[in-house]
Amino acid sequence: MNMKRLFISLSTITIFSFLFVSCYYDNEEALYPTLSSSCDTTNVTYSGKIVHILNDNCLGCHSTVATGGSILLTSYAEVVGYAPRITGSIKQLASFSAMPKNSGKIKSCSIIQWDIWVRNGMLNN
Ligand code: HEC
Repeated sequence: MNMKRLFISLSTITIFSFLFVSCYYDNEEALYPTLSSSCDTTNVTYSGKIVHILNDNCLGCHSTVATGGSILLTSYAEVVGYAPRITGSIKQLASFSAMPKNSGKIKSCSIIQWDIWVRNGMLNN
């Protein structure tokens, strides 16, 4: 192999390696959403996380009977009582009414935090 061909080969390899690495890092969040450093999975409490998720996404409707289909999610006891249905609804699983109503899913980080809170025993913390 002469020097010119060697140089062209090495340049091509370098450029493709660079493109591959760039693409890889661009897509890291999409590939591994659960590993995102911005999702706090360690300090998941009712008052610190769950109340805020419900406030931001649900209470616009579920704080009054008229707009929430008679399902109120304004107290800890109500949230615990509806927990299994909330899980199905926010994951938009078949046989549950998809929530938030007429909208896409809430943030995947919020769904992960909900699961963690349920798994930890739904503490009023
Ligand atoms: C735009 C208004 C609206 C928003 C926002 C909304 N809901 Fe609902 N939700 C309703 C209405 C109305 C019903 C009753 C009729 C139905 O199921 O579609 C309902 C039903 C439900 C049910 C019962 C579903 C079932 O299959 O038994 C649950 C649980 C629920 N909502 C939880 C939530 C949660 C959690 C959020 C936030 C992530 C949320 N909703 C956001 C209006 C809303």
